[in-house]
Amino acid sequence: MLGKTIGIDFGSASTIMYVEGKGIVLDEPTMIAIDTETDIPIAIGNAAYTINGRTDDTISVVSPVKNGIISDYTNAEHILRYYFQRLCGNSIFKPNVILTVPSSATNLDKRTFLDVAMHAGAGRVCLVEESLASALGLGMESNTFSGQFIVNMGAGAVDVAVVTMGSLAVAKSLKVGGKSIDAAIQRYLRKERDILIGSQTAERLKICLGSAVPRKEEIAIMVGGKSSLDNMPISFEVTSTELFTCIRSQLDLIVGGIKSVLEITPPELVGDISENGIVITGGTSLLYGLKTLLESETGIEAHLAADPMYSCVSGAAAMVKDVDYLAQNGYAFKTLQELS
Ligand SMILES: Nc1ncnc2c1ncn2[C@@H]1O[C@H](COP(=O)(O)OP(=O)(O)OP(=O)(O)O)[C@@H](O)[C@H]1O
Ligand SMILES: [Mg+2]
Repeated sequence: MLGKTIGIDFGSASTIMYVEGKGIVLDEPTMIAIDTETDIPIAIGNAAYTINGRTDDTISVVSPVKNGIISDYTNAEHILRYYFQRLCGNSIFKPNVILTVPSSATNLDKRTFLDVAMHAGAGRVCLVEESLASALGLGMESNTFSGQFIVNMGAGAVDVAVVTMGSLAVAKSLKVGGKSIDAAIQRYLRKERDILIGSQTAERLKICLGSAVPRKEEIAIMVGGKSSLDNMPISFEVTSTELFTCIRSQLDLIVGGIKSVLEITPPELVGDISENGIVITGGTSLLYGLKTLLESETGIEAHLAADPMYSCVSGAAAMVKDVDYLAQNGYAFKTLQELS
């Protein structure tokens, strides 16, 4: 194939790109800042993240990928175009792109991913389910008969799938993840303590104090926000115990979704999963105690991926290095002409 081949994990929180021969060349927040009067982008990725929550209403900072799928076509295209230009410069050949998508993305969702990537400057695009990519990225035997259960817990979605013989036997994407946990923390502080905090502070609280099972010893930190009663700045203490209670409902949704996939999985594959265990990956898998919670709820051993933020893009990278794998497993690159 002419042109660079790029593997992309275009996630709700971060965009990670792998370029053939160069490795991971980009890992930035999936964010864009727009001038609200002109609709012109003024910052993308890290630069947009830095100003998020700190601007007046002439600038709007948005994340165009929500729950794992593209929700804002124009801004998603701006982001990809900017990165393609950065990576490919003035090359006359358009890049070939392997793009990971949620495992239960609808045909319309897939069509949007294809359209956006092509209009942003990709020459040929191949979509691959993120569970399959993650399995490959983690070095799992995705081509064997034995079923592998993989749970990719991201920021916008939790992708649950059973991989066997190089494809997905069962798959489900749950609209819950790191961002909905952050939002639950914001809601709790507003409702119970009359305190308003930004999404970045909520994320920091989750990472420092959050847990899926009660911590052995309570910990607490001081953070800043503002009072919703008089709008004045306030510095206050948050404890791990109160966070455990307030994020519980989000974790129940994740556990319920995982159990519902096990329920519809054929018995032979469930037998394999009991032996092989559950592999958990994605940034939210780093939440304290998640492995213990899943093991106690399902009775199946859980294994935490070593580098959970990178398992999906590592799988895309493996496919970039071995594009024959795609054809052998029924995946094809598409061009804009083939779409219309
Ligand atoms: N130590 C940690 N504890 C809990 N959550 C964490 C931790 N580190 C990162 N996260 C969360 O992981 C999420 C990012 O994970 P990831 O990069 O896998 O998401 P994504 O691929 O962009 O999203 P998606 O796949 O849902 O579209 C964020 O919500 C972040 O807050
Ligand atoms: Mg992801």
